[in-house]
Amino acid sequence: MEPGLFVDNDMRKISVLFICLGNICRSPMAETIMRRYLVEAGLDGCVEVDSAGLESYHNGDRADSRMRAHAARRGYEITHISRPMRGCDWEQFDMIIGMDTQNMRALEQRAPSVAHTKKLSRMTNYCDRFMFEEAVPDPYYGGEEGFEYVIDILEDACTGLMAELRRKL
Ligand code: 4NP
Repeated sequence: MEPGLFVDNDMRKISVLFICLGNICRSPMAETIMRRYLVEAGLDGCVEVDSAGLESYHNGDRADSRMRAHAARRGYEITHISRPMRGCDWEQFDMIIGMDTQNMRALEQRAPSVAHTKKLSRMTNYCDRFMFEEAVPDPYYGGEEGFEYVIDILEDACTGLMAELRRKL
């Protein structure tokens, strides 16, 4: 038997949903980084990742062209298509991770029960290098440097999240 198959069968699956406002910048970037880290770690069969927006303004759209361009400079391709968060996401996902304080407030308000709020966490809580940051800042109305900064924070947070997932698996 291939060693990978044994590990996969023995490990439980964890599902992670990244949330931001529009689901065209921060959360699809987080999802894309996480997919790469999971593949590199051989854990892509154990963790399912997706992203969604709190608002449906960009439902059906590709990620913001600026976010895709900055991602491409670091070798990432964002293929996600924007979708709003759905009620069933609360049941379907084990971890629901918001990008900023506004996201966290909205998620806490929308959670169907107190038990569901236990699935929530804030992306910057997984940071090490950027542990002083309380939020992944919204880059939408800002300049190019904002998109680079989003990727810097998200790569740091995804590294911390990988460590957390290894503990949970
Ligand atoms: P995101 O960024 O929440 O990181 O996807 C935004 C995208 C769109 C808008 C705001 C933030 N908007 O107002 O359309």
